[in-house]
Amino acid sequence: MRTFSLTLHVWRQKSAKAKGKFVAYKAADVSEHMSFLEMLDVVNQGLIEEGEDPIAFDHDCREGICGMCGFMINGMAHGPQPRTTVCQLHMRHFKDGDELWLEPWRSAAFPIVRDLAVDRSAFDRIIAAGGFVSVPTGSAVDGNTIPVPKQDADLAMDAAACIGCGACVAMCPNGSAALFTSAKIGHLGLLPQGQPERDRRVLAMVERVNAEGFGHCTSAGECEAVCPKEIPITFIARMNRDFLKAAIHERPAANRGGSG
Ligand code: SF4
Ligand code: FES
Repeated sequence: MRTFSLTLHVWRQKSAKAKGKFVAYKAADVSEHMSFLEMLDVVNQGLIEEGEDPIAFDHDCREGICGMCGFMINGMAHGPQPRTTVCQLHMRHFKDGDELWLEPWRSAAFPIVRDLAVDRSAFDRIIAAGGFVSVPTGSAVDGNTIPVPKQDADLAMDAAACIGCGACVAMCPNGSAALFTSAKIGHLGLLPQGQPERDRRVLAMVERVNAEGFGHCTSAGECEAVCPKEIPITFIARMNRDFLKAAIHERPAANRGGSG
């Protein structure tokens, strides 16, 4: 088993309002079989034994499915491996003597909680604005009674793969949440159950995105490149089309062009 040492430059910041700075740590005897978070666990154990505060970072499933983990490694959201969350990143991709710079997601809409952990509740508020299907009465009908074209079902599943990690926002030069929001809108908008609220959903969710202070999409494409679930930016185009159609429907008839 290969073991090696790394130098970590970690962003330490006690709270959203405190001033932060990089602090260097040595990570010794790193096993190639460790995950990145396991390597940090060992560094933290050493810090605790020395009476220092451990490095704060978010995590939960450590299986790439919950979306809780995420920070920048040498300027890349989730680190250097494509299609990989930082909890699934393994130390075999690094070598002895590497210097790594670990930073939290940098976005005005994701305030720093502590060190590498940020507050992503803005995403929850975007979902709460419209990312759901209302079932006002009775029990849900059997799934098989509502036929869904295979192509739509596949696309909806692709969109539903979004885990809400926020890497797309962190990597975007504009701090845009367009990829995340379009995945949530696309997922429901492709299914028959999502149609009754389709217009209302896209208008409310986009309005919430703007209110949360995320930037606008200028099609830089960084989000798609870094997304661990490979959500394509074509969902952003789909969201924009839906938004335009919904805005026209919502406009009072007197203000519409043509016969209105
Ligand atoms: S679109 Fe991709 S990068 Fe953005 S929140 Fe969803 S899974 Fe994470
Ligand atoms: S900890 Fe759940 S996706 Fe990384």
